[in-house]
Amino acid sequence: MRHLMSPLDFSVSELEKLMDLGDDIEKNPQKYAHACDGMRLATCFYEPSTRTRLSFESAMLRLGGSVLGFSEAGSSSAAKGESVSDTIKVMGAYANIVAIRHPKEGAPLVASINSDVPVINAGDGGHQHPTQTLTDLHTIRSLTGKIENLTIGLCGDLKFGRTVHSLITALARYNNIRFILISPEELKIPDYIREDVLKKNNIPYEEVVSLEEAMPKLDILYMTRIQRERFFNEEEYLRMRGFYILDKEKMSLAKEKMMVLHPLPRVNEISTAVDKDPRAFYFKQAEKGVYIRMALILTLLETEFKAF
Ligand code: CP
Repeated sequence: MRHLMSPLDFSVSELEKLMDLGDDIEKNPQKYAHACDGMRLATCFYEPSTRTRLSFESAMLRLGGSVLGFSEAGSSSAAKGESVSDTIKVMGAYANIVAIRHPKEGAPLVASINSDVPVINAGDGGHQHPTQTLTDLHTIRSLTGKIENLTIGLCGDLKFGRTVHSLITALARYNNIRFILISPEELKIPDYIREDVLKKNNIPYEEVVSLEEAMPKLDILYMTRIQRERFFNEEEYLRMRGFYILDKEKMSLAKEKMMVLHPLPRVNEISTAVDKDPRAFYFKQAEKGVYIRMALILTLLETEFKAF
């Protein structure tokens, strides 16, 4: 039985197969419409979500399965003090696979150790968000054909943004990827990403504050929201909010073929005027998330359609 806690849980070759399956699902949805008949997905979300929870649920429903779960800790027995380990043990009796989001880093890992069914980390605190990374890689591959020879700018809250940590970790295994890390001093990437991922793997990167200066060099701009829920005080959040706003003027500095991605939700860091720009792919990215999660469910449940 396999779980998904980090993008590194799958090899690059396994990721390729998973994305191939995602592509086939997108092209031939009918072929997979009964692949999970009689199976159940539990979504245990201790933190708010729109895309991750609902794309998982949409994925399972499109595969013929059914879904159950909770969308906030307060409506589960966590409010009475139940541990994640006990909750997951019980979920194994109710569902064939579990997607869990939790504000504490490592909580999905603890759950997986105690689980009788596959567990998917749907985001743990400011740590990792591997299924967002699958979505991001799948989107990049579908837009560029192959994940290589790219200068990728990651902009915004690089300290608390778990999507950024997962994406850098995953992309570090591909050929000729360069990063430009664009953030205020206060929100730079954590040391463990800089030391254990970038430096250890000799990945070229630079850390800058100015988005304008970085723009002309980028093949992909990955914007992120300032993570209000991870700040220790509101004053600090308010000071950081609005530090970067991608607008038409800044887009005019970018390459003609640059792609703008964002894991969403957006607050104010991308002006809605940019949505009409042909280089804005963040809503397409959210759609891709359903197909890759379908591929993931089929694979972790070891159905006849599993990618590997
Ligand atoms: N990208 C993402 O994780 O969005 P949600 O918080 O809406 O799930």
